[in-house]
Amino acid sequence: MYLTSKEERTLAGEEGPGRQKAMELLVAIGDIYGAKRLVPVSSAQVSGASFKTIGDAGIKFLEDFSKEAKATVRASVNPLGLDMRRWRSMGVDSGFRTKQARIVSAYSSMGLEPLYTCTPYLSGNRPRAGQHIAWAESSATVFANSVLGAMTNREGGPSALAAAVVGKTAEYGLHLRENRLPRVRIDLGDVPPGLVPLAGYVVGRIAGNRIPYLPGLSLTPDGHKAFGAAMAATSAVSMYVYTERGGRSRVDSTIVEERVSLPESELAACRESLAGDDSWDLVAMGCPHCSPAELRSMARYLKDRRPSNEQDVWFCTCRKAYAACPDAVRVLKRFGKVLCDTCMVVSPIEKMYRRTASDSGKAMVYLPTLGRQRATFRTTDQLLEAISR
Ligand code: F3S
Repeated sequence: MYLTSKEERTLAGEEGPGRQKAMELLVAIGDIYGAKRLVPVSSAQVSGASFKTIGDAGIKFLEDFSKEAKATVRASVNPLGLDMRRWRSMGVDSGFRTKQARIVSAYSSMGLEPLYTCTPYLSGNRPRAGQHIAWAESSATVFANSVLGAMTNREGGPSALAAAVVGKTAEYGLHLRENRLPRVRIDLGDVPPGLVPLAGYVVGRIAGNRIPYLPGLSLTPDGHKAFGAAMAATSAVSMYVYTERGGRSRVDSTIVEERVSLPESELAACRESLAGDDSWDLVAMGCPHCSPAELRSMARYLKDRRPSNEQDVWFCTCRKAYAACPDAVRVLKRFGKVLCDTCMVVSPIEKMYRRTASDSGKAMVYLPTLGRQRATFRTTDQLLEAISR
């Protein structure tokens, strides 16, 4: 890979051991993927922030690295294993909290923004179309590529951190326009709003590692957030191309290798396979983190109802959304916990619950694995109905 003379000096350690290590990692990745050069990034988003997912080895790496490295571009951090303020009421033990605090401290000393969210684009870290970025969270990368038009691969935590330190990333994959073309067209038909996450789940399975083209996909920004998160969870792909209903396609049909029409029965079968039963310890919403619009919409539904108190309830969101709608948060708190900084997957949920219902397609993939839950899918409306009377 070609390096400028300044990049060569960074690699030689002339700018300190932290930047040298970060550059070594970027160069190794670039060589593996055949990148010709590095490109500057306008922001980074780093995953690997929960003690549950990175463990003691991760803490040691971050503490050592933080002594010698600083972020040089805007960089934010993915959710932690707990809500920094409400960890006790979540049921997290103080040992976990102590380890989590060391991770927070390491990221802070490297100058990363303490957003602790998978939706940094709702908290000020929102790239513009055409900008190169280095984001790690799978749901955020697909939103950035597909909806915002920014350019990022699905980074690993260490490579996103290295990009934050160097301010650059290797130019391969989705940083190259020729790799951002759709190869499979999927005609979805009408998808009821509550089933949008499952549509993403099914599209991911069909797409595999090919960027799908989705004609007639008319979704709200929150719909795209849920759809893309699920798609990225069931596939290796971090981007989709879409036109809204009635919109003109700019996709060259000659490059599309396959065309698939999704029968309604496929969505119904997926729903059936994730239907589980009605006995849950926890109802968890906010995967990806709830936007202010989602918090307000749920609060509107619940405002004049009473809690059913049949299970615990988590509404997961980011601090910015929490602060933006105090009235909605007040209503939701009557029904459960409104948690920031964390989520049902990266928190130690397995120590507290066994059976969790969620309206998230992504959560259906990770709750049974990372969370060791018996996971059940219900639409948002069904869950709101179940937690209230
Ligand atoms: Fe976000 Fe956690 Fe879901 S990080 S996308 S809420 S699994």
